[in-house]
Amino acid sequence: MSNEGMATTGYTLTENASLRERNTLRVDAHAGWLAEVHDAAAIPVLLDHPALRDTPPLLLGEGSNVLFAGDYDGAIVSMRTRGIEVLAEDADAVRIRVAAGEHWDDFVRWTLAHGHAGLENLILIPGSVGAAPMQNIGAYGVEVGEFIETVEAFDLEQRSFRDFANRECEFGYRDSIFKRHPDRWLIATVALRLPRDWTPRIDYAGLREELARMGIDRPAPIHVADAVVNLRTRKLPDPKLIGNAGSFFKNPLVPAAQADALRREHPQLPSWPAGEGTSKLSAAWLIEACGFKGLREGDAGISNRHALVLVNHGNASGAQLWALAQRVREGVEARFGITLEPEPRIIGAVT
Ligand code: FAD
Ligand code: EPU
Repeated sequence: MSNEGMATTGYTLTENASLRERNTLRVDAHAGWLAEVHDAAAIPVLLDHPALRDTPPLLLGEGSNVLFAGDYDGAIVSMRTRGIEVLAEDADAVRIRVAAGEHWDDFVRWTLAHGHAGLENLILIPGSVGAAPMQNIGAYGVEVGEFIETVEAFDLEQRSFRDFANRECEFGYRDSIFKRHPDRWLIATVALRLPRDWTPRIDYAGLREELARMGIDRPAPIHVADAVVNLRTRKLPDPKLIGNAGSFFKNPLVPAAQADALRREHPQLPSWPAGEGTSKLSAAWLIEACGFKGLREGDAGISNRHALVLVNHGNASGAQLWALAQRVREGVEARFGITLEPEPRIIGAVT
């Protein structure tokens, strides 16, 4: 093990690092090297270190959307930079720049505590701010891309910092340019614009009902946040109690005609219009209909609370979890003719 003082270098470097506490599926994998960056200015120097010089590193945040199917022999770089800075504030909006290493949920709570509305539907999503643009995190009818103005990232090919304007991020459902080119750009800061003109976004199934249950008829941002917390806590297993990475598959986007045909056969199948003649189907429903909800093979399982969540009951290896996920995918494909795409990044296996 080697450890270089962060006070002088702006990063720490550990050889043969355990990743068990660094992925929420709690897979006991190891990395050849783990670099944690505490000062973004140190990135170019870090990349010249012999451990990273010859092979491009893998980028990691808090590990809440990755599955290590095995060990990772190379170097991993993780942003640990902190800081929330108000760039400008006027009658129309507040603009805020956040460092990649901040916890997303802490940041959302900070905005609400400071009277800035907009991100309340995205409360309690695990992970770092730096990973948020990666898959354009979304929940309860809102996606972060709606609020992102600029993403500042270090280009690992060009070896220089670059700013991405919102449209250059190419945000889509669980998608962005960063997701399509993994490990090319190390996101260092994210700048968001939160407009003052606010109306509650409570059309997502269950949200209005939860607010009614709470006795709220004119919700303020904090009420929406509380309602989302209640729904999420009821629906999703807590990674502190049982290893998981949230939804393991994306909800499939299919041509509207295919969705209509499936719904004629299975009227209960939830589906939503997704623009340009496509529909989004509920992957959870498809998995549950195949009888996989609550399935367990050794310590690898499908949550009995939510069919879209792959869980580690204790000591499942990444390979065992991945094998179970593939079994689920094959089952859904055989029964419905739909190929589910994993949402988390699978490291060390072919997807
Ligand atoms: P990691 O898992 O460490 O990395 C994810 C990806 O981002 C990897 O490809 C990695 O290479 C890349 N990456 C990480 N940091 C950087 C960086 N600084 N620069 C460039 N690339 C980087 N997601 C949702 O969208 N909506 C939800 O409602 C939601 N609910 C969840 C609930 C649970 C219980 C869990 C465990 C996960 C949930 N997720 C959800 C998924 C997860 O929270 C998000 O994908 C989150 O943004 C991942 O952040 P992370 O820091 O853990 O990233
Ligand atoms: N459903 C089932 N069986 C289940 C669970 C759900 O049939 O076991 C059905 C429900 O009846 C409901 C539908 O599936 O009609 C949708 O369920 P839910 O509202 O829980 O949302 P989801 O589509 O499963 C998506 C995101 C979540 C996000 C929620 C809320 C994806 C892949 N997942 O889940 O994001 O929190 O909506 O917006 O888009 C994540 O990305 O990791 C994640 C948790």
